[in-house]
Amino acid sequence: MEITEMKEWERISAHSHIRGLGLDENYRAIRKADGMVGQVEAREAAGIVVRMIKEGKFAGNAVLIAGPPGSGKTALAIGIAKELGEDVPFVHIAGSEIYSSEVKKTEFLTQTLRKAIGVRIHEMRNIYEGKVESLSMDYMQHPYNPYQKIPASATITLKTKKEKKKLRMDQSFAMQLLQQGIEEGDIIQIDADSGRVVKIGISKDAVKEKSYDLSSARILDIPDGNVLKEKEFVYTLTLNDLDVMQSRSGMDIASLIFGFSERKEISDEVRKRVDEQVKRLVEDGRAELIPGVLFIDECSMLDIETYAFLNKAMEQELSPIIIFATNRGITTVRGTDIKSPFGMPLDLLDRLLVITTKKYSGEDMRDIILTRARKEGMKIAEDALNRLVEIGQKASLRYAIQLLAPAWELAGKSEIKKGHVDRVYNLFSDVKRSVEYLRKMEEEMIYD
Ligand SMILES: Nc1ncnc2c1ncn2[C@@H]1O[C@H](COP(=O)(O)OP(=O)(O)OP(=O)(O)O)[C@@H](O)[C@H]1O
Ligand SMILES: [Mg+2]
Repeated sequence: MEITEMKEWERISAHSHIRGLGLDENYRAIRKADGMVGQVEAREAAGIVVRMIKEGKFAGNAVLIAGPPGSGKTALAIGIAKELGEDVPFVHIAGSEIYSSEVKKTEFLTQTLRKAIGVRIHEMRNIYEGKVESLSMDYMQHPYNPYQKIPASATITLKTKKEKKKLRMDQSFAMQLLQQGIEEGDIIQIDADSGRVVKIGISKDAVKEKSYDLSSARILDIPDGNVLKEKEFVYTLTLNDLDVMQSRSGMDIASLIFGFSERKEISDEVRKRVDEQVKRLVEDGRAELIPGVLFIDECSMLDIETYAFLNKAMEQELSPIIIFATNRGITTVRGTDIKSPFGMPLDLLDRLLVITTKKYSGEDMRDIILTRARKEGMKIAEDALNRLVEIGQKASLRYAIQLLAPAWELAGKSEIKKGHVDRVYNLFSDVKRSVEYLRKMEEEMIYD
């Protein structure tokens, strides 16, 4: 896994149970739906924001999600991302990241903003498309390593509702098949000119036969028509993808689809060229712009310079919607000695819609902890759950949820009992208790 993917994974794994905002068709929150529990008003407000974003009526605006620690601010933002769907870019960063990046702050921000603007491009291409009916690989000896064999070529049979076609292709094609783990039953597209392969999903009948991990795959019908066809190819890239492509000439769209990540400076000139190209595509009706969402979590880490930069960006013609989240009340704006609500400069506060999240009731906490445990496949006894709710109310919900994993280990992965919870509570401190401990330790220290 790439390092950037790892970071992303750690950030979202605590929220893997969230599949959306859990709203009904009238945008009313169902108390327990899509992995979401309670926090009804905040979810309904978020639903309205989603609707406005989808209708393109929200440009130049920003949202702030404010509330105490562990009240589901990050969870709510993830819910918004899920509701927006795959095509709308959603970029998730933590406030502190602007300082830790290896590029300048403004460069990092520009790249991040441009990652949050999508360009949906329509293009007519000759493609081979179908279900992989059979697949065979010819191997040859590795030129240097006598113990290894490498693919030499591949033969593949693609099937549509109308016909079957056998294709024999070269080494680079065989490598792509292996790299993407393409197997029988998958539905793939091969670009006839470049030979690039894209797996678009798994065919319905293959799913019935094998037991797949369905969460990550798209299940599709076998395509109609001929295997070789001219087809409108629609794909969404971000402005940053295009910048990266433009700055590394010779790279094509396909290699971006295959994933590639490298962060380095991009010149203004490149960005200008990209903007002009995109403008032309849009004017020709070959592309649409999709303003996405930039979510900045823990925004109390942002400083006045960054806020000024973002404020200016929001005034531009094309800007993503920015969602901030913070658990700070009135505090100083970083880089100044001015106090203000949420530590945000006043001119920015003016253009914010604020959604507040409230502390959870015991009942809500209970359902959230249970949802988390179920998602992780853990069994938990009634009294253990009660104890966790108590801990959650005293310390924080996040801490109570964090205790689930070690308690499950202690329980030998059979069932978490109250004793296991008590034990991990003593073994792993929450923030409040560790601060108290440090304070006590300080009193006992010797100073000269
Ligand atoms: N309404 C909810 N429904 C389901 N799960 C929730 C809900 N609220 C919070 N959670 C889960 O509880 C945990 C803590 O919530 P979360 O991290 O979103 O809080 P937060 O407000 O962002 O806290 P912080 O201020 O510390 O960043 C997460 O695992 C989150 O997914
Ligand atoms: Mg959070």
